[in-house]
Amino acid sequence: MNSENLSRREIVEKCIVRGLLVAAVPMSQTNLLALWQKGENQAIRPTPPEVLGPFYKKGAPDTPVLRGPGDPGFPLHVSGRVCNTRGDLVEGARIDVWHADYYGKYDVQGYRYRAKVSPDARGEYAVETIMPGHYPDRPAQHIHYLISAPGHKTLVTQVYFATDPYFEGNPDRNCHKGGIVQNRESIRPVMLYEGSGAPRAAVAFDIVLEKA
Ligand SMILES: [Fe+2]
Repeated sequence: MNSENLSRREIVEKCIVRGLLVAAVPMSQTNLLALWQKGENQAIRPTPPEVLGPFYKKGAPDTPVLRGPGDPGFPLHVSGRVCNTRGDLVEGARIDVWHADYYGKYDVQGYRYRAKVSPDARGEYAVETIMPGHYPDRPAQHIHYLISAPGHKTLVTQVYFATDPYFEGNPDRNCHKGGIVQNRESIRPVMLYEGSGAPRAAVAFDIVLEKA
């Protein structure tokens, strides 16, 4: 039988018989196969979409640094990976980010706090900015994202911050307050760093894209 005619299950069974797939602890062939297939079928949930909003603007500069010297606002580092629902790194992704300034204003004339970045060879992206301000229409601090990648659905989403006073110290209880945040998982923990310079905050926000 040609290997192209074998089912994935048969291929895995052959691997078990030939010792190409072995358990780290004593386990029957049936349990080993079941465990492998369970892992194969596990998919990562795609990052929840959000609305694009009225402040998106094409043509943002290609830079990971949105923060300028002396800008008001708490310094913030946002980083993460871009992968697909199988956990594989996505190549060729482009990420637009934009957010309000410290005072809750979007720059609609220019490109302050707007940028386009690409993940590096390890699939990781990072931006240096400030913690966004609040504005009356959407009074929870957030950063907008638009992510595109070859062979994948374009995703529009947002990240929020667990330290935001809007959540009153309890994002689990208050995540849906006011209908602002659609998904609890979009509210990320904030890490505070104190080095030789000024303190800064850091947030990890991985992005999971669906195939087109
Ligand atoms: Fe916004």
